[in-house]
Amino acid sequence: MASGLAKPLLRALAGERLSRPPWWLMRQAGRYLPEYRAVRSKAKDFVELCLTPALAAEVTLQPVRRYRMDGAILFSDILLVPHALGQRLTFREREGPVLEPIENRSGIGRLDPGQIVPRLKPVFETIERVAAALDPRTALIGFAGAPWTVATYMVEGGSSRDFRRVKGWAYRDVEGFDALIGILVDSTIKFLTAQVEAGAEVVQLFDTWAGVLPEPAFGRWVIEPTRSIVAALKQRFPDHPIIGFPRGAGLLYERYVAETGVDGIGLDPMVSSSYARERLQPLATVQGNLDPILLITGGSSLEAAVRELCRSLGGGPFVFNLGHGVLPETPPENVEALARLLAEPTAPT
Ligand code: CP3
Repeated sequence: MASGLAKPLLRALAGERLSRPPWWLMRQAGRYLPEYRAVRSKAKDFVELCLTPALAAEVTLQPVRRYRMDGAILFSDILLVPHALGQRLTFREREGPVLEPIENRSGIGRLDPGQIVPRLKPVFETIERVAAALDPRTALIGFAGAPWTVATYMVEGGSSRDFRRVKGWAYRDVEGFDALIGILVDSTIKFLTAQVEAGAEVVQLFDTWAGVLPEPAFGRWVIEPTRSIVAALKQRFPDHPIIGFPRGAGLLYERYVAETGVDGIGLDPMVSSSYARERLQPLATVQGNLDPILLITGGSSLEAAVRELCRSLGGGPFVFNLGHGVLPETPPENVEALARLLAEPTAPT
């Protein structure tokens, strides 16, 4: 579609180099914004906020109204998939997510993969509402957690320090763990398919904990499931770009890009610009990777780092983002300063 292709984010993800990099920020909606905190306090809890379309659409649009990013990321959470599979999810203040852990093969029987799309219907309605409200140059980004990262929360019962339980299961009982990953691959395909049908123009797979797996487990639990999801989505929607974010993958970033078939690759802050430029940019559009702490720091440190990043990656297909999500302590005026900097054209290379 000609109008769709005019959106800067879609052009960059199709491999075009733009004079100004398109941008959006992971966790661009959230607690750093006073208007988010106001809406958040109206909902009973975080899960209810995600599953109430009027509220979720409103918080999706809040950062875009303020800063005019090139992408609006759906307000939701990667843990809604286990929730829809029947694993009860709560969020505790300062503790993060809590799920009743599934620790072995017999726990898989408690999951109900048949209901994923009907149970997540409010998410698709949120997408429809945002699509109707967005201005024509902003792209709507849907997302899901990648199977490995979602499995870490399902097996550990929440956040983890050393991933002992989930790795223990994956190493001890490859077939049993594969059954869990298989359910997550199928559920993620269904979830993302319905998001695209509702109006998501780009999807991102968050593999936040990809970097805790050594080879060959990384190939089996990060690359393989991602490859299956990308292949299924590409078959249905060949023109919808997919961004993979295998945080912490280090030197395995290159294999991830080459073997999964993603169009865009989200870089964490530790990926060097020279590695990204030489090894990744020839294969995919690179996205990233400013340290989120710099957005708290602000001032001339922020400005210098943003200019340097745009200079070193702006010579090829590039989407500006952070290397991880916006932190709650971020002063909104620093995001405003970032928006102003990114509105300047990058020097021709
Ligand atoms: O990026 C966006 O603005 C869209 C919304 C979004 C949220 N979570 C909202 C959220 C997205 C894309 C996510 C993804 C997500 N959720 C990931 C992958 C990305 C990453 O950050 O690594 C993960 C691992 C989760 C799981 C999750 N959700 C955790 C561990 C927590 C608790 C930690 C925390 O920041 O509070 C959440 C809660 C959460 N998800 C909040 C938001 C705005 C904060 C909840 C609140 O408002 O009380």
